[in-house]
Amino acid sequence: MNVGTIRRLLIAGGLAVMSTAVPAQNVVKLGLVSSFSGPFAEYGQQMLNGMKAYMKLNGDTVAGKKIEIVQKDDGGPAPDVAKRLAQELVTRDNVDILVGFGFTPNALAVAPVASESKKAMVIMNAATSIITTKSPEIVRVSMTLPQVTQPMAEWAAKNGVKKVYTVISDFGPGIDAEKTFTEAFKKAGGEIVGSVRVPLQNPDFGPFIQRVKDAKPEAVFLFLPAGAPGVAFMKGYEERGLREAGIKLLATGDITDDTVLDAMGTPALGLITSFHYSADHKSAENDAFKKAYAEVSGTKMRPNFMAAAGYDGMALIYEALKKTGGSTDGEKLVAAMKGAKWVSPRGPVMIDPETRDIVQTVYIRKVEKVGNELYNVEFDKFPDQKDPGK
Ligand code: PHB
Repeated sequence: MNVGTIRRLLIAGGLAVMSTAVPAQNVVKLGLVSSFSGPFAEYGQQMLNGMKAYMKLNGDTVAGKKIEIVQKDDGGPAPDVAKRLAQELVTRDNVDILVGFGFTPNALAVAPVASESKKAMVIMNAATSIITTKSPEIVRVSMTLPQVTQPMAEWAAKNGVKKVYTVISDFGPGIDAEKTFTEAFKKAGGEIVGSVRVPLQNPDFGPFIQRVKDAKPEAVFLFLPAGAPGVAFMKGYEERGLREAGIKLLATGDITDDTVLDAMGTPALGLITSFHYSADHKSAENDAFKKAYAEVSGTKMRPNFMAAAGYDGMALIYEALKKTGGSTDGEKLVAAMKGAKWVSPRGPVMIDPETRDIVQTVYIRKVEKVGNELYNVEFDKFPDQKDPGK
């Protein structure tokens, strides 16, 4: 093909796009703020693919409006960047709804932008309990750390674990996890023999892991943000001989997130976690989700909990837009979201009308080999869990 032909094709393509362009009033724009670069780049990719999977199954039009996604990269935990991007999305890109938010500090920085612009803000991960109290525009479809931690503490106490050392990442969700685990475990008769907070960015786990080993607890309770930190921790846990010393590892499912399980390999086998989503969850909704996810992502990457939240965020937005007849007025949309119920790939869910947080089943899972791959296999569950942090 010569240059002239290519140019003619490009012009024809351009004209085709122009002639099918949808008038602005018939479009609902979603401004997605999440991480697409740096060590947490999978957060954004997972959310976006989850959103696309929902659109693949349900179409790109609802209540007569075409849904468009404008994505922005916050690069990781960076509140100032997230705030600037959200402001740009609202003032320059004229988005109707803000979505995404992997990290608590970013979500907290954007809350005032949602309040001032009166735009609904749908959180697809950031999981510190207080976030939804920071703006009446916020609705959360992911989880809260108290919500997924409390069942772990109760399960551990019921299953004979008595002495635990807590290790958490030193920021909002970690502090929520530490507080919830400590309170619930003590209430159930357990003892906390030590606790340590590790830095969020580039932690060197070695000295912390040694401290845990020296305290000789029966188990460690661990929260770290999903991704590379969990892989690094598991390596240190093996290398310093904690498994050999018989120290069990209990965690929230962030550690054994579906995207990192294979990188962890056999040391992850047997790990017990509590969480709201596993790619291994057995249901027709999850099967359909995984199939659509594979088609839109074009990779072998598994959907993880952030992808499920991306899908559910879209499910909620579509239902709300149907109820408002396509109006994107923040107050009307949030009112329509309160009390919404649907069956998610994770199981039955509802938006608590009081807190605007999600009510859902929290599963206890064990890492097992399924075929040739490692999965979080659910074996116990705590249905209808609200956020106990409020
Ligand atoms: C958060 O910043 O709230 C956060 C980040 C990563 C997680 C969970 C929570 O895996």
